[in-house]
Formats: sequence, C-alpha cells, structure tokens
Amino acid sequence: MTDFNGRTVLVTGATGGIGGAIVRQLVAAGADVIASGRSADGLAAIADETGARTLTFDLTSEESVRSALQDLDLWGVVNCGGFGGEIATPMETDIDVFDKVINVNARGALLVTKYAAASMIRLGQGGAIVNVSSQAGLVALAGHISYGSSKAALDNITRVSALELGAHGIRVNSVNPTVVMTPMSAWYWGRPDIEGPFLDQMPLGRWATEDEIAAPVVFLLSDGASMISGVSLPVDGGYTAR
Ligand SMILES: NC(=O)c1ccc[n+]([C@@H]2O[C@H](COP(=O)([O-])OP(=O)(O)OC[C@H]3O[C@@H](n4cnc5c(N)ncnc54)[C@H](OP(=O)(O)O)[C@@H]3O)[C@@H](O)[C@H]2O)c1
Repeated sequence: MTDFNGRTVLVTGATGGIGGAIVRQLVAAGADVIASGRSADGLAAIADETGARTLTFDLTSEESVRSALQDLDLWGVVNCGGFGGEIATPMETDIDVFDKVINVNARGALLVTKYAAASMIRLGQGGAIVNVSSQAGLVALAGHISYGSSKAALDNITRVSALELGAHGIRVNSVNPTVVMTPMSAWYWGRPDIEGPFLDQMPLGRWATEDEIAAPVVFLLSDGASMISGVSLPVDGGYTAR
C-alpha cells in the first residue's frame, strides 16, 4: 500500500531538513521524486544522495512556478517549502514580514497546487497532494501571528482543494507538525525559557524528528490513505489535543 511504483512526486522545500527526509523516504518507497528548492547546491546534495531529480524555482513568483511546472507530468506533490518569519505579537508585527510569510507559505503552495493540479487532471490518473502545515495553524501560539496565519490559510487551501479536486480522484491533505529542531526553528524553540514550558504542555513531552514528520506525509500520499482527503493531521505529540 505504500509502494509508489515509480509514480512521480514533486517535493518543494527539498533542501530543508523536513523536505530532505520526505525525499529520502519517498525514494525508498519507490517514487520518482523531483526535489525542488531555490538552492542549486542544496538540491545537488540531496540528488547525489538519493538519485532524485531536481527542479529549481521560486515559490514567490507565479512565472517561476508556472514555467517550472507547466510541462511536468506529476502524480503527486508535497508542498514543504516554507519560511518561519518572525516571532511577534499582533501589536508589534512587521507587516512586510507578514506579507512575505503569507507569500511563501500560503500563496506559494497555492501556486504549486494550481499548476500541478492542472497536470494531474490532464494525465487523468488521480493523485495526491500533501501540504506541510503546522500546529501553529490549528491553535494560537504566542508570537506566531504571521506564521500561524499562513498555516491556517494553508489548511483552508487543503480543504477547498480537496473539495475541488476530489472529482478527479486527487486527494489533498495537510500534516500539522510540532517543532522539529531544524535551522528554521532552533533559534527560538531551543531557548530554555521557551522549550521547557512548551514541552511540559505536550503529552509526549519531546520535539519531533524529521523522519517522524516524513512518515505521515508518505502515508497520506500513499494508497493506504485512499479514502482520506481534506484533513489536517496533527503530528504534534498530542499538543493540540489538550
Ligand atoms: N521546523 C519546524 O519546527 C517545523 C514545524 C512545523 C512545520 N514546519 C514546516 O515544515 C516545512 C519545512 O520546514 P524546515 O524546518 O525543514 O525548513 P528549512 O530547513 O528552513 O527549509 C525551508 C525550505 O523551504 C524552501 N524555501 C523557502 N523559501 C522559498 C522560496 N521562496 N521558494 C522556494 N523554496 C523556498 C527552502 O529552499 P531554498 O533555501 O533552497 O530556497 C528550504 O528547502 C515548512 O513549510 C515549515 O513551515 C516546520
């Protein structure tokens, strides 16, 4: 049920910590993976390691996304590219940072969905899309006005896309991870005054690993999840269940 039999899956954010783990697990599960990001060097490293193909484009440019995707034959997509932005309250937020976070995390994922779904519909073989959202899209986290808003928007993109693409046999879901200690998160969540009180509130009481996020992404893409669409799946050690 989790053998992809050479199906082609695009993974954005593949030069990052979580995206890299997703590429490794998808290749191991028999997918033909196209690893994407902006950094050609970062993509060369993951391609050398896994044999994945690579594709460079910028999520903030519709023209860049369109020209990269319009002739691509895709069965699946993982929207993992993202930007953490700032830690700020609504009163002190830098609205330019808000715009950039929304631009990459929500608008960028929507642009990829727009052009990838056109290709998936054209091929007529169904498919699956998984959006890497966040626990910050599900509940209010202090300091997360921009990032949380972008991920809540991404979860809505998941639901509406699931509604619109279901007739084509295309499923769309989100995973909503807790913190993984990648460069995006370590500078803030690694602070003892932040880490301790947060983990005290989480039933499992520890941060996630990259592989613990990649595994449910691979499951939601796979035929094992063939009746699951439109969900936002917390991968958060129980934090949002409280
Ligand atoms: N780390 C966490 O604690 C955590 C928790 C919950 C959810 N998430 C989400 O998981 C995803 C991956 O996070 P991560 O921690 O692995 O991040 P990361 O290591 O900082 O990687 C971010 C990725 O996004 C890509 N990216 C950023 N801006 C882009 C743009 N304008 N165009 C194209 N690609 C762009 C980067 O590629 P280039 O640098 O090559 O452009 C990189 O591959 C993100 O969506 C993040 O919001 C992370």
